[in-house]
Amino acid sequence: MNASLAPLVATAQALMAPGKGLLAMDESVGTCNRRLAEVGIAQTPENRHRYRELLVTTPGLSEAISGVILFDETSHQSTAEGVPFVEVLQGAGVLVGIKVDAGAKSLAGHPDEQVTEGLDGLRERLAHYASRGARFAKWRAVLKIGDGLPSRACMLVNAHALARYAALCQEAQLVPIVEPEVLMDGGHTLARCSEVTGEVLHQVFEQLYRQGVVLEGMVLKPNMVLPGLSCAGTASLEEVVDATLSCLRRGVPAAVAGIAFLSGGQSAKLATARLNAMNLRAGSQGPETALQANGLPWPLTFSFGRALQQPALGLWAGDDVNRVAAQKALLHRARCNGAAAQGTWRPGMESDGLST
Ligand code: 13P
Repeated sequence: MNASLAPLVATAQALMAPGKGLLAMDESVGTCNRRLAEVGIAQTPENRHRYRELLVTTPGLSEAISGVILFDETSHQSTAEGVPFVEVLQGAGVLVGIKVDAGAKSLAGHPDEQVTEGLDGLRERLAHYASRGARFAKWRAVLKIGDGLPSRACMLVNAHALARYAALCQEAQLVPIVEPEVLMDGGHTLARCSEVTGEVLHQVFEQLYRQGVVLEGMVLKPNMVLPGLSCAGTASLEEVVDATLSCLRRGVPAAVAGIAFLSGGQSAKLATARLNAMNLRAGSQGPETALQANGLPWPLTFSFGRALQQPALGLWAGDDVNRVAAQKALLHRARCNGAAAQGTWRPGMESDGLST
């Protein structure tokens, strides 16, 4: 491999450090406002700022968090004492990442489907963020399961854009987090999610290959394979583990630096339990197949938004009297997920004082 790629690969490996994962706090203004409103907090720039400050100043975050993904608005903000958030994170030993897509927009000719935009001017924006200390970036594509959906067109354009973004990131020495999210919305079965996720991964890695993306210097951020939120049937932990690991083994080249799941609307504890079960299961296959400690060719960790933040946001409720309790709740979820990334989480950890 080209020697100039070594720093990129080192960053990707640092993001996947054992027992650590990513905190996604890169919600757009609209999404962040929606999350605030859900717990009765006024949707103001000040409240977004206060909430993000609470998150980035959480003591001990780097115990289980290797990197934090920021939104543009947050990446330029500072604490009440005037310290830029980026410096707070760097000082705590956490890598700074930035969401660089411009959101999912309606796909022409395909009602109900979306293509993620943001390639125009991306080279310049990446250079700007890199000069301000970012070490990695994120781009999210969304694929909806429905009758005849996702269309081939939707899968292709999103895979193509993800690969163009990833190539530009690597040119700027930023590690791309490649996120093709198959949404949980809908009544589809686990088997259908598996079929669609498999096809999406195939398309994404084909495009990454075509566009020369160095797999060792990127992280995949996929959905777990799950039945739709309104599916009549349920899936056991074992079925989810089987389906997700099969999909990943078939679709993700061994050279990829790591896999960091999104939570996608799962409850916080269920997302942790599933990540843990995947690492446990894979590890039980025996050392002869073990390239990683988990028996898979890549580490499996988390890049959760809601599943890390929700308990903290609910506790904070917009009142700084609750700030310390909210930070403890965030750290607790981070620690539980850090354990799950190594297959050492146990249900008892949820209440055994880890958070104190
Ligand atoms: P969730 O974990 O809430 O799905 O968010 C992850 C993310 O970064 C979505 O882009």
